[in-house]
Amino acid sequence: MTKPGTREPQPAPPWPAQPFSTVIVGTGAQVPERILTNADLEKMVDTSDQWIVERTGMKERRISAPGEAASDIAVKACEKALAEARVKPADIDLIIVGTVTGDMLFPSTACILQQKLGAQRAAAFDVSAGCTGFIYALSIARQFIATGVCRTVLVVGVEMLSKITDWTDRSTCVLFGDGAGAAVLKADAQPATGILATYLAADGTGGEHLYMPAGGSRLPATVETVQQHQHTCKMNGNAIFKVAVRAMADAVKHLLRQADLKLEDIKLLIPHQANLRIIEATTRLLKFPSERVFINIHKYGNTSSASTIIALDEARKAGLIRPGDVVMIVAFGAGLTWGGVVIRF
Ligand code: UT7
Repeated sequence: MTKPGTREPQPAPPWPAQPFSTVIVGTGAQVPERILTNADLEKMVDTSDQWIVERTGMKERRISAPGEAASDIAVKACEKALAEARVKPADIDLIIVGTVTGDMLFPSTACILQQKLGAQRAAAFDVSAGCTGFIYALSIARQFIATGVCRTVLVVGVEMLSKITDWTDRSTCVLFGDGAGAAVLKADAQPATGILATYLAADGTGGEHLYMPAGGSRLPATVETVQQHQHTCKMNGNAIFKVAVRAMADAVKHLLRQADLKLEDIKLLIPHQANLRIIEATTRLLKFPSERVFINIHKYGNTSSASTIIALDEARKAGLIRPGDVVMIVAFGAGLTWGGVVIRF
C-alpha cells in the first residue's frame, strides 16, 4: 500500500505499432427515485401537460433528493458498469466524468468517484462540455487507449440539473432531469471493432444562449446573485433549437465519412434527448428511419451529459444492440459544443 501522494514508479507502456481499438465492455445507469410528472409541474408554474408533451415529448423526469449529489448516483452507475465488465476498481487506469453539475467546483467529481469506488490506481478528471460531456469524455478516453497509455478507462456522464434549475422559470424548469450513466472501456487488439470514429466540435460564439451566470470567477456568489437567481441555468431555447438540428446532422455526416460508412450501416442512432422535435427534425433532415432512433426522453427529460449514456445502457439492456451492430451517438449542448461517436459492438 503506497502512502497518499505517492505511486510506485512504472515503466512507460511501449508505444503500440498500431493503435489499440477501444471496446465498451460494460455500461450502467442510475437515476434518482423521485419522479416529477408534467401534472406536478402544472401545480408549480403556468404550464400544461399538453404544452410539454407537444413541444418537447417529455412526460416525466427524475429529481434528486436534497443532499443527494452527482457522485451519489454516478457511483451506482459505475458499479453496475464494472460488474457487467467484470472489472475491479483496482484495475481502472483513468476515470473521466462529463458533467456541469458535479458535487462541487473542486475537487473533480472524477476524484470523488475514484475515492468512493476504491480505484486507487486511476488518474481522474472532469470534462465540461455541456450536454456533449459524455461524448467528449468518451473521445478523450479513446485517445488514451489507442496510444497504449491506458488499458481500462471508466467514462461517466452525470448531471443534477435540478440543482441549477430556476423553478419559477417555466421556459426551462419543465425540461431538465437528473441521472447518471457509465461505460467501462478496454483496449482490444482487434482492428475495426469498438469505437470506429469520434467527432468533436465547438462554437464559443453561441455560449450566451445556454449558461449559468454566477458561481464562477466572473460573478462569485453574493446575496444579490442568489436573489437574482443567477446560479441557475439560462437558455435561449429557440436559438439552441436551430443550432441543435444543424449540429447533430453535421456530426452524423462527419462520423459517416470518418468511419467510411453509409446511413444504412447504422443499426441504431442514439441522439441527445433534449427535445423530441429536435430529434425528429434531425432525422427528417438526414432521411434516417425513425424506427432506428432510440428515444427515452418521455421518461427522463433532458439529463445533459447523462442523456446519451443512459440511452445507450437502456438500448443494450433492451436487446436492441447485437454483436456486430454499428451504433451512432450524437449530442450538442452548452458551449456551444457538439459531436458524436460510432461504435461497432
Ligand atoms: O440540451 C441542450 C440544450 N437545450 C435544448 O436543446 C433546448 C432547445 N430548445 C427547445 O427545446 C425549445 O425551444 C423549447 C422546448 C425550450 C421551447 O419550445 P418552443 O417551441 O421553441 O417555444 P417558444 O420558446 O417559442 O415559446 C412558445 C410559447 C411562448 O409563448 P408566446 O410568447 O407564444 O405567448 C412561451 O412563453 O410557449 C410559451 N412557453 C410555455 N408555455 C407553457 C414557454 N415555456 C412554456 C411552458 N408551458 N413550460
